[in-house]
Amino acid sequence: MQDSILDSNKVIDEGRQGEALELKTPVNQTAKKLYLESYGCAMNFSDSEVVASILVDQGFVTTRNEGEADVILINTCSIRDNAEQRVRNRLTQFNKAKREKPGMIIGILGCMAERLKKNLLEEEKLVDIVAGPDSYRDLPNLITEVEGGQKAVNVLLSRDETYADISPIRLDNNGISAFVSITRGCDNMCSFCVVPFTRGRERSRDPQTIVQECQDLFNRGYREVTLLGQNVDSYRWNMSSKGEIKDPNQPTTNFAQLMEMVAHVDPLLRIRFSTSHPKDMTDDVLEVMAKYNNICNYIHLPVQSGNTEMLKRMNRGYSREWYMDRIAAIKRIVPNCGISTDTISGFCGETEEEHQDTLSLMREVKYDFAYMYKYSERPKTLAERKFEDDVPEEIKQRRLQEVIDLQQAHSLEIMQQQIGKTEIILVEKESRRSDKQMVGRTDRYHKVVFDRGTAKVGDYLKVKITDCTSATLFGDVISE
Ligand code: SAH
Ligand code: SF4
Ligand code: F3S
Repeated sequence: MQDSILDSNKVIDEGRQGEALELKTPVNQTAKKLYLESYGCAMNFSDSEVVASILVDQGFVTTRNEGEADVILINTCSIRDNAEQRVRNRLTQFNKAKREKPGMIIGILGCMAERLKKNLLEEEKLVDIVAGPDSYRDLPNLITEVEGGQKAVNVLLSRDETYADISPIRLDNNGISAFVSITRGCDNMCSFCVVPFTRGRERSRDPQTIVQECQDLFNRGYREVTLLGQNVDSYRWNMSSKGEIKDPNQPTTNFAQLMEMVAHVDPLLRIRFSTSHPKDMTDDVLEVMAKYNNICNYIHLPVQSGNTEMLKRMNRGYSREWYMDRIAAIKRIVPNCGISTDTISGFCGETEEEHQDTLSLMREVKYDFAYMYKYSERPKTLAERKFEDDVPEEIKQRRLQEVIDLQQAHSLEIMQQQIGKTEIILVEKESRRSDKQMVGRTDRYHKVVFDRGTAKVGDYLKVKITDCTSATLFGDVISE
């Protein structure tokens, strides 16, 4: 990715790109083969698991080899222009594969499908199916229509679809950590952001189905769940956005209460969540974090900019002072909490002083980690309609680089502070560099590499931190 820093160290990771997902089941030679590739944020990866579940129920098996697929589906992201360009390149490649295998069906899912709708069929002729994020139950019908010689589109957005009853198939994963969606859509209308247009209105999922899914995951050996939403703090069940109770005979649930319910599933199930919104994150949520050991001390709290005028233009709903008050609340209520953020450099009208305010805010907060982007104008957004994308490319790039360099220094500083500490880590996988080493994470989401010994994926181990880089800690296992 050109305009962002990629690292596996983020809970919601809109930098993830192009991962082919495969279900590890015995192959039935006659079954139709599905190749599913996903881009974008964790929500999209989570949706791909719903899609796989729907199609496996229809008798599909998944494959990692696009050449042998009967159906290729690409789950896409529209957040920045370059995310869409990558998908267009992939679609061109898939169309080449289709020339070798004429019956092959190519479908586009997710945010780009929703944004571009029929254009992808008519003007660009790149795909056979266009399915928006709320239409996945319809995929079997859409595939049948295409098999009958039609092109098929469903881009209806829903006010209540949450796929709550669908048990996602966990694809290509370590069997330890899973994403669990708790809300869909977004009602916030940040002026730079395309998500409200591609994902529709915000809606929350029935808390009982969330707890049940987490319990099932735990019973199957999972040890970590990440509760997902564009703004988890606005999760609410049986309550309107104004706080009115919908059904007086049913309990209401807010995000703090939901976390508490999930924390009770088992003390050995770690709970993470993403994304928190500075305007909505209450002390209640922080108090629940502090109360339960298994709710991890880590908050992703995107700031976007450190300047209040800029935040107004971005329509973020908070000022610099409000944001810093939330940071103070985190530091007060959840000591030793890791904090990460997202920033945008070069948004419309950004002055040098406004950019400096972002740097000074970063110095005040000292984030563990940040996802740092260059502004990319998106069609239909408030910013596209109201403001000019007037910061020249070289200035955007230079400011972004200054943000990245500062963050790099802060990440290293925070990692160095961990040396000498004893931490409990959850073992995730073998190290990419050596099969003699494994990787786990601390409660604060720091990655720790250690010598394998007798460690197994899913174990909780005590380690002493001995060394670090800006992205990784190294440690020794301490036997009890
Ligand atoms: N719901 C989350 C973020 C979703 S998008 C939140 O409100 O924080 C993830 C990140 O992409 C955003 O936090 C923002 O930093 C970045 N982003 C969104 N639109 C963008 C755009 N048009 N150009 C550059 N970055 C953008
Ligand atoms: Fe986009 Fe803002 Fe919603 Fe996040 S909160 S998804 S940035 S509109
Ligand atoms: Fe996610 Fe990208 Fe859509 S960040 S919500 S997949 S536009």
